[in-house]
Amino acid sequence: MKPSLFHRRQVLKGGLAAGLTAGLAAVLPVPPARAATPPTLRPAPRSVALLGAGEPPTDVWAYGDVPGPVLRLKRGAEATIRVENALPEPTTVHWHGLRIANAMDGVPELTQAPIPPGGAFTYRFTPPDAGTFWYHPHVRSAVQVGRGLYGALVVDEDAPPPVDRDQVWVLDDWRLTDEAAIAEPFGHMMDLTHAGRLGNVPTLNGRLVETVPARAGERWRLRLVNVANARIMALRFTGHAPTVIALDGHPVAPHAPAEGRILLGPGMRADVILDLTGEPGSAHAVVDDFYPRQAYRVVDLAYGPEPAVRQDAAPLPTLAANSLAEPDLAKARPLDLTITGGAMGTLRQAVLKGESLDIRALVQKGKAWALNGVVADGMKMPPLFTLDRGQSYVMRLVNDTGWPHPMHLHGHAFRILRQGGKDVPHRPWADTVLLAARGTADIALVADNPGDWLFHCHILEHHQAGMACVVRVA
Ligand code: C2O
Ligand code: CU
Ligand code: CU
Repeated sequence: MKPSLFHRRQVLKGGLAAGLTAGLAAVLPVPPARAATPPTLRPAPRSVALLGAGEPPTDVWAYGDVPGPVLRLKRGAEATIRVENALPEPTTVHWHGLRIANAMDGVPELTQAPIPPGGAFTYRFTPPDAGTFWYHPHVRSAVQVGRGLYGALVVDEDAPPPVDRDQVWVLDDWRLTDEAAIAEPFGHMMDLTHAGRLGNVPTLNGRLVETVPARAGERWRLRLVNVANARIMALRFTGHAPTVIALDGHPVAPHAPAEGRILLGPGMRADVILDLTGEPGSAHAVVDDFYPRQAYRVVDLAYGPEPAVRQDAAPLPTLAANSLAEPDLAKARPLDLTITGGAMGTLRQAVLKGESLDIRALVQKGKAWALNGVVADGMKMPPLFTLDRGQSYVMRLVNDTGWPHPMHLHGHAFRILRQGGKDVPHRPWADTVLLAARGTADIALVADNPGDWLFHCHILEHHQAGMACVVRVA
């Protein structure tokens, strides 16, 4: 473990960085704006200089590079993406947030057979929504995503709002050794039962980045994607006033984030309009302080000396809504989901593969969490909920644990009605809802996509340790 790197970055705050970090300093590699034909994805081992040139490289697994290519798709147009598995183990690709046919959802055993090493699978689907999404494996995802397999997927609006730059920021953290190798083992019991595998090296688009060059007066659209196994992020853009325009890909009434922090659990996305109101020559930190005692600087916005490109910012854009079926709250049926388990939890016993086991026996099998008293094992399991197609539902989620959980539903988007007993402003659409420790949430959806869909915590170690279920829409 290398707990030193976050620390090193604290020390480097401000103007010191330039001379001291020759090896570390890197300029944000701006991802390719457009890939006309989605490429073949070839997950494979490779070596990547996560820490920058001059530092030892890291053996990762990657779709070409870390992150994989930004896939830019057209809404309503069929995409064909071939995946060739060059990993030493089976894999799949899941298109996180896309409401597509169940057979293309990429969940091993549940929706497809895993792609064996040397094998290939062709995904064919038509994205129904514009927005910011991402893709990643769903086989041993704590290990495969943790080793670097992920990429952003952008479905463009028919008329995207005018901005000077449209940037994808794929945010991750890595647990590296002093030699910059990925720290083993994965799935340590401590990670399974506590906060998940938190890392010690933050990366932006797959590199430890010191600065992102900025130009005064510009307007950026930032597509923030949290691909970390476990790290919940709360991003503050010091000296700036970001406006959230979409969450989990879906447009939301433009608003300033609560408490000035953009809250992103693993798997979650936010589209943000950032007006570059800083002075030429100034630098402003982007900080993640979700874990207050482990706050760290993600990157600095470093303004060049050029004068502002314009004085007054244009009015804020509103994105056209995606066409999602509106839940009928008057006729909605109730569903209840209670989460138990984890360290310092109240879970005494739960059902695993049809057998009631006490917590000690569960932990011996690497399990630590239950949904309505049932512990998931693998992906294929009898449905915990069976929903009628076309019917509206309101699910009340109760987190009876001492840990936060980003709960993610495949194949659908839901409206977040209430969180922690309070109405949520704008009732945003989302595919992932972040439950606070001991928190609650009410979400509403129309069960309009048939199939068996996974519903799980996106802290990948929690998922591995049993925090998943199947929602059947029949
Ligand atoms: Cu990113 Cu099962 O999902
Ligand atoms: Cu998903
Ligand atoms: Cu969790």
